Amino acid sequence: MKTITVQASQTYPIWIGTDLLAACGELLRGRTKAQTAAIITDDTVDALYSDTVTEALDKGGFRVIKFVFPHGEPSKCSKTLNQIYDFLCENEITRTDCLVALGGGVVGDITGFAAATFLRGLDYVQIPTTLLAQVDSSVGGKTAIDLPGGKNLVGAFKQPVAVICDTDTLKTLPDKFLSDGMGEVIKYGMIRDAALFALLEQHTLETIHTVIDDVIYACIDIKRTVVEHDEFDTGERMILNFGHTLGHAVESYYHYETYTHGSAVAAGMCMMTRKTCSDAVYQRLCKCVAAYRLPTTVPAPVSALVQLCGKDKKRANADLRFIVCETIGDAQIRTMPFTEFVAWMEGVGV
Ligand code: NAD
Ligand code: GLY
Repeated sequence: MKTITVQASQTYPIWIGTDLLAACGELLRGRTKAQTAAIITDDTVDALYSDTVTEALDKGGFRVIKFVFPHGEPSKCSKTLNQIYDFLCENEITRTDCLVALGGGVVGDITGFAAATFLRGLDYVQIPTTLLAQVDSSVGGKTAIDLPGGKNLVGAFKQPVAVICDTDTLKTLPDKFLSDGMGEVIKYGMIRDAALFALLEQHTLETIHTVIDDVIYACIDIKRTVVEHDEFDTGERMILNFGHTLGHAVESYYHYETYTHGSAVAAGMCMMTRKTCSDAVYQRLCKCVAAYRLPTTVPAPVSALVQLCGKDKKRANADLRFIVCETIGDAQIRTMPFTEFVAWMEGVGV
């Protein structure tokens, strides 16, 4: 087991390794005084991992209760959140108890938000079980639910008291979601780590499992540094959005049905790199993206995508901020008037 310590408004360990679910009770005992641990999970993950986690928490001396909701993004909503609040009330959860987010980013985000708001805040633990959740959403304290008006529109910054990243859980993850998480992994190589990118170039979706623990460690460590420098997302943390300006536009253009988040980000990174970098960098990125069965472009007209970028909630006034990586391993934040961005992007992805 390896440990990364995040020093943000709350200092917490991220444990990375195999066989950690069975040890979670013991690991958490040292991190919280909670008497009750409330597992929040979805039905898919429940069937796979709840028994192991329940038994381990029980051994760690916790009273264990569990709330299960249907898997998928539509569950990350106010209706599920209210059901979680009701469940916590019915089970007399106090401010010194803790929530346990067992699952992917959907479970992590809604559980984190419940922990940030129920009784004005209580401890929670992240046990991420998708690659995306392990390298991204479980770390850094962004929590949220979706509204009918858009994704992640209600949220809070709330750091967990610990993250338990058991890489064995990826063995049951369908390839579609492994591929999706690889979109974010490639992003880390592009923004901060040329050696990580070179390692990814030596593998494919079929072989990456042989080095996955090292890859996850490298990604989490990059996220740790960025979060420590800019926990509340006012500057440097924006580099984590490389590929996301166009990626969010792709997701929205296809009504969140055709492209997963990671595949939209992969296409977004490639389209942006084609515009901003040398052909050599663009070709390396496209080859790597394709090796993980991710798209390098999408059929949607660039003009329509660019217009959707104007609706990005991170847009500041008339300016659009976006990330470019002129060289692999180095990201810069660029700001441009939106009208100029529209003209500048003309021709990309054609
Ligand atoms: P998800 O939570 O929906 O998980 C994907 C699917 O995999 C689900 O059907 C789930 O039941 C299943 N699953 C999970 N673990 C499994 C396992 N080990 N074996 C088999 N099946 C498993 O999706 P996700 O991609 O993990 O997360 C996406 C969410 O994360 C989005 O809501 C996004 O907004 C959010 N997100 C948050 C942040 C953040 O910083 N908070 C960052 C990125 C993404
Ligand atoms: N996933 C982007 C962030 O945590 O800032």
